[in-house]
Amino acid sequence: MKVLFVGDVVGKSGRNALFEHLPFLKEKYNYDLLIVNGENSAHGKGITRKIYDSFVNAGADCVTMGNHTFSKDNIFTFIENADRMIRPANMSPVEYGKPVRIIEFEGRKIGIFNIYGSVYMDNVTDNPFKTMERLIEEYPCDIRIVDFHGEATSEKYAFMHYFCQKVQMIVGTHTHIQTADEAIFGRCAFICDVGMTGPYDSVLGRDKYEVINMFYNEEPSRYTISDNPGMLSAVIVDIDLDSESAVSIERIQIKP
Ligand code: FE2
Repeated sequence: MKVLFVGDVVGKSGRNALFEHLPFLKEKYNYDLLIVNGENSAHGKGITRKIYDSFVNAGADCVTMGNHTFSKDNIFTFIENADRMIRPANMSPVEYGKPVRIIEFEGRKIGIFNIYGSVYMDNVTDNPFKTMERLIEEYPCDIRIVDFHGEATSEKYAFMHYFCQKVQMIVGTHTHIQTADEAIFGRCAFICDVGMTGPYDSVLGRDKYEVINMFYNEEPSRYTISDNPGMLSAVIVDIDLDSESAVSIERIQIKP
């Protein structure tokens, strides 16, 4: 089973890059499952119904989220009906949406989980390790995939080493910078961060001049998202269903 995971889609140029490159990626990798992190897809913060629908129409089997899940008020009008969306399990408010999506594939149960790092992150409600253990108990699956939305590389590595015999794919999101550490550990394909699908000539998707001004003059910023052409960051992971093990992981970056 081939899984294409597309890293944090940021704003319009990120969405355009995703839609532009998906046909080529489908042709090249012939993936079975498409997962998209959409927590920054509506102008850098949150997601709208229209954007969620556009991801589903583009073939997304699951849309994962993060610290900006609830940044648009609109989310509360559709999150309960958004079957393919998952939100971090251990981030408040926990009462809206769901943290796990289960998909049947070739007679197997594939579980996709959204876990939230506890280091340098706001609104953490519970320990990510214990949250994942609880979810493994609650949702029996043959294959498990985790979007670990977090900042600290150390926490992502510790999490991977703890779960690498029970989880077949753990990919980091949130930092917007793709790391070059993709590898297989135990049964698990891992990368610390998939990277951003968004404006290439920017600072993590934001207008570079505004961010320079923020750091140089120590002034607050307005959070303007760059409209420069988008790059796409992703990984393609191959999971062998019989041995319930990941067999390969490859990084993808397509720059404008
Ligand atoms: Fe984030």
